[in-house]
Amino acid sequence: MKRTALGLLMIVLLAGATCYWLTFIRVTNGGLTFENKLLIPEQSFGTVVDGRRQFHLTVGEGIREFLPGKRTPTVGVNGPYLGPTVRLRRGEDVDLIVRNNMDEMTTMHWHGAHVPARMDGTPHQSIQPGTAWTASFEVAQQAAPLWYHPHPHGTTGRHVYRGVTGLMWIDDDNSEALDLPKTYGVDDIPIVIQDRLFDDDGAFDFAINQGAVYGDTMLVNGTWSPFLQVESRRIRLRLLNGSNARIYYIGFDDNRAFHQIATDGGFLEAPLQTNRVTLAPGERAEILVDFSDGAEAVLKSYPEAGWLDTIGSFFVGLGTGHLELLKIVPRPAKRVSHALPERLNTISRIKAADAAKTRPMVLGGPLRGGGPAGPGVGPPINGKIMDMGRIDEVVRLGDTEIWEVRNPGGQAHPFHVHLVQFQILDRNGQPPAGAELGWKDTVLVPAGDTVRVIMPFERYADPEVPYMYHCHIMEHEDAGMMGQFLVVEDPERLSSRTRNLQHR
Ligand code: C2O
Ligand code: CU
Ligand code: CU
Repeated sequence: MKRTALGLLMIVLLAGATCYWLTFIRVTNGGLTFENKLLIPEQSFGTVVDGRRQFHLTVGEGIREFLPGKRTPTVGVNGPYLGPTVRLRRGEDVDLIVRNNMDEMTTMHWHGAHVPARMDGTPHQSIQPGTAWTASFEVAQQAAPLWYHPHPHGTTGRHVYRGVTGLMWIDDDNSEALDLPKTYGVDDIPIVIQDRLFDDDGAFDFAINQGAVYGDTMLVNGTWSPFLQVESRRIRLRLLNGSNARIYYIGFDDNRAFHQIATDGGFLEAPLQTNRVTLAPGERAEILVDFSDGAEAVLKSYPEAGWLDTIGSFFVGLGTGHLELLKIVPRPAKRVSHALPERLNTISRIKAADAAKTRPMVLGGPLRGGGPAGPGVGPPINGKIMDMGRIDEVVRLGDTEIWEVRNPGGQAHPFHVHLVQFQILDRNGQPPAGAELGWKDTVLVPAGDTVRVIMPFERYADPEVPYMYHCHIMEHEDAGMMGQFLVVEDPERLSSRTRNLQHR
């Protein structure tokens, strides 16, 4: 009797271990042979017209073969999938002319850009089918790897999923002076990471599971099973998590060390040696990887730290296992490797004492006035679901503010604020370290964490048009995990209209 029980227990344990091995130790998107050359989005410097740099971005439907022999209907910018990498320089005046050739309304948002509210491309700057909208602004921020994507309320996730996403890289005197790899597509490589679900016909399957869309097929720059040939020297990868919901823990399959040099909003002060970078949806990182050893390596995503988290997230459908992304194949170098710069930037710390106020931001939790957050609704922020007709927060122009972002439970949410780049003041009371010392516009707040961010509101007041803050899991955002803030010269003297919008 005892024997049988012991035997059964052994079988259960073995079966469990095998499942674990199959699911997590073996790659979850395994069997990739990396036969497709990594696509590099075109880069665009626009054309200068009357002293303004102009770009034309046309959003329209297309077809792309991602998987062999399967034609996938897509939407892209100036092409079937993704859009050109828009290259801007600090101090320039630019016009981004966005034409909507889809048969539904959309918008175009410059994620991470410091721009006036009317130029931000939020749900309030809709572009009707067959029309165009122009965002005009001065590039007024340091060199940074920004990106652009649609932002129509309720359908952002779907538009991005079909392919409307592009990079927007800013340069300045500092970035130009730094001795870094800068040859686009050669040693300075855009890496847009996305997961997709394909149905049997090869169409994208926009299937919401556990409140968001998680794919099992990885695309890099819209390339499935990609390889990239580089010279065997130091190369620069500019990573964007352009996925709707999946969080990545990026590293290489040989566990090689590399250096992170930039976060969302600009360069770190000095290269940071590491072998992992966590990227939640919307986040960016620039890394320098040395391939002078000539050895091939696969860029991949690891399971998140801790097997409990990993198993937990697997069973709620979020499954972060081993996901292979891109095989990098070094060839003999024609040029000598760039040295690792000692210094990249100066980041003066904003002091908590300089903040005019602290705003609480509670992610998830119950809805204000009761009522369940359920399918299609929520999770809320501060108990509220997004209402385009309501102003949630009013900020005084010139103030520095602390936003205390608290995630009391459930799942991790990447919290994004428009207009600004912020600094992390502390996480669970601990001062930031490593890459969290860099400028950010999106910060991952895992369940149970409280992150205080601090930011100056230095430019651009508008008494009527709000900016957004939201969770960057796009299905959460679309279900209302978003709020609106105004930046005004004098919050005491709001128009009665704005006052009414505040109290809905
Ligand atoms: Cu990536 Cu509200 O934006
Ligand atoms: Cu944004
Ligand atoms: Cu969320």
